[in-house]
Amino acid sequence: MEDLEQIRAELLAAVAAAAGPDALDAVRVNALGRKGRITELMKGLGALDAEARRAAGQELNSVKAAVAEAIDRRKRTLDDAALEGRLAAESVDISLPVRPERQGLLHPISQTIDEVIAIMGEMGFAVAEGPEIEDDFHNFGALNIPPEHPARQMHDTFYMKEKPDGSRLLLRTHTSPVQIRTMESTEPPIRIIVPGRTYRSDSDMTHTPMFHQVEGLVIDKTTHFGHLKGCLIEFCSAFFEVANVPLRFRPSYFPFTEPSAEVDINCSRQGNTLKFGEGDGWLEIAGCGMVHPNVLRACNIDPEVYQGFAFGIGVERLAMLKYGIPDLRTFFEADLRWLRHYGFLPLEVPTLLRGLVP
Ligand code: PHE
Repeated sequence: MEDLEQIRAELLAAVAAAAGPDALDAVRVNALGRKGRITELMKGLGALDAEARRAAGQELNSVKAAVAEAIDRRKRTLDDAALEGRLAAESVDISLPVRPERQGLLHPISQTIDEVIAIMGEMGFAVAEGPEIEDDFHNFGALNIPPEHPARQMHDTFYMKEKPDGSRLLLRTHTSPVQIRTMESTEPPIRIIVPGRTYRSDSDMTHTPMFHQVEGLVIDKTTHFGHLKGCLIEFCSAFFEVANVPLRFRPSYFPFTEPSAEVDINCSRQGNTLKFGEGDGWLEIAGCGMVHPNVLRACNIDPEVYQGFAFGIGVERLAMLKYGIPDLRTFFEADLRWLRHYGFLPLEVPTLLRGLVP
């Protein structure tokens, strides 16, 4: 009989050297399989006499057990290593963007609203919101626009179906109803801005049926038109990032403010580029005025005690001017190429300290 110690050492070495499950299985077949070395030796025992057979049999069994156990242990080690490897290979760093090449971008409207909030927030304005489906009272009546008022025609209102009582809800035509809602629910002093969607049945190069405004409202005992001017001048120079941007306050009319003005920003157009604070061009960006006493009264605020101003800025207009977007309608076409071109990184939150746009 061959030297069993020698065989045991060889087989154990082969087990230890098996680098993977397949190699280990080959070692097992080679040692313990039907034609394996140990199996063959077992078969040879029959030729020995009884005494020798028992001794050799015992020894052979112990080699067989040792090899089987070594294979078992090695198998567990290999399995563990394989699992560790898989866990490492398949681990997900949840702090990384899932698909950086597919990262979404902020629409220029969202970016512009974030910038307005950053600037006005710094000036002490809080953000207020209101419903987009409004009633007649908040959108018109309380804003000093009674039913027969011609200003209603100018608003191209979308109306809902008539209710049994004859009233009709509507899509708000401006953000001004949130002035009313805020004054109804808050004691002055009030200092809010209201960014939001507005709707008018109007569609051409410069109008879309849905658009955005930022309303502003300040109510206290001493605020006057000078504050309104200062506020808008300050806003424009921060937003357009030009010192001393010239603004023109052109007398105008809104039923809910008196006096009223429209605000134009000075700019020059050379070919396709627009520069602010130079040249002889003027572009309208906002309507504004001192809150009409009738509006205060409709909200149970005493106009003998309180006064203030309001303004409404067109968000699309701001975005078009600042980011050189020529056609209003493209804002809402959801064209991915347009969005990738004009979009903003979502994690670059605008702040006045760091600069509004990275
Ligand atoms: N609500 C007005 C509009 O949509 C704008 C405006 C707001 C004017 C506040 C004056 C004061 O046209």
